[in-house]
Amino acid sequence: MPKFYTEHDRRIPQSPDEPFPTPGFFPATAVLVSVADLDSGVPNIIPLIGWGPLNRDPLMMGIAMCVREYNRDYYVRGTNAIIRNTMDFVLNIPTREQKDLITRCGELSRAKDPKVNKFKEAGLTPGPGRRIKSPHIVECPVNYECVVRAIVNMGSHDLFLGEVVGCFTDGKVVSCETLFGNDRYLMKLDDGGFEALKWTTLMEREYLTEGESGT
Ligand SMILES: Cc1cc2nc3c(=O)[nH]c(=O)nc-3n(C[C@H](O)[C@H](O)[C@H](O)COP(=O)(O)O)c2cc1C
Repeated sequence: MPKFYTEHDRRIPQSPDEPFPTPGFFPATAVLVSVADLDSGVPNIIPLIGWGPLNRDPLMMGIAMCVREYNRDYYVRGTNAIIRNTMDFVLNIPTREQKDLITRCGELSRAKDPKVNKFKEAGLTPGPGRRIKSPHIVECPVNYECVVRAIVNMGSHDLFLGEVVGCFTDGKVVSCETLFGNDRYLMKLDDGGFEALKWTTLMEREYLTEGESGT
């Protein structure tokens, strides 16, 4: 496996086909963010790798969304405008088995097709919000209800800082008494039981020759 080093070229893409210069790409895990659309009444979903638990007290989740058109992949996200109306969102943690529907939700965009219903297209169910307007994704094992406390423009992306006001799994409320293990994250549920979320590594590496990479 050859090692490589790149310096970040900050040139902005000038056409839809020109890639966004990135030093490698990010080995990150995807989440699905769900939001209520007060205008159309049809909730929306956006897959994101730009996210993270950023503050402990209060627990704050950060999510990052593209703000304008750069190329085919980097265009303003419909969800960016939708969140500004409700000022809340649900951060849903999917399972590995849900990889294909994450991809499907990423292929569809409310910015490009204002009528698209991603819950329907991906075969997902919106569950009613408990403390916020946005619905959660019933099929995702863990759902964090967040209220937007700040929006920070970072350049190409806006960072939405959401305070967690509730967390539940399969309709059961998760208490704050979360325990940590070596390979798992144990959540105490309001019915007295526990649920284990296991870590997995962030990425798999594969070395491809030029022909194999499809370039
Ligand atoms: C795995 C995955 C991760 C993504 N991560 C981000 C991200 O962090 N930020 C972002 O703005 N777009 C991200 N996208 C792209 C959006 O999900 C995609 O553009 C989506 O169609 C936008 O939908 P919307 O216009 O309905 O909001 C990601 C897509 C996928 C498939």
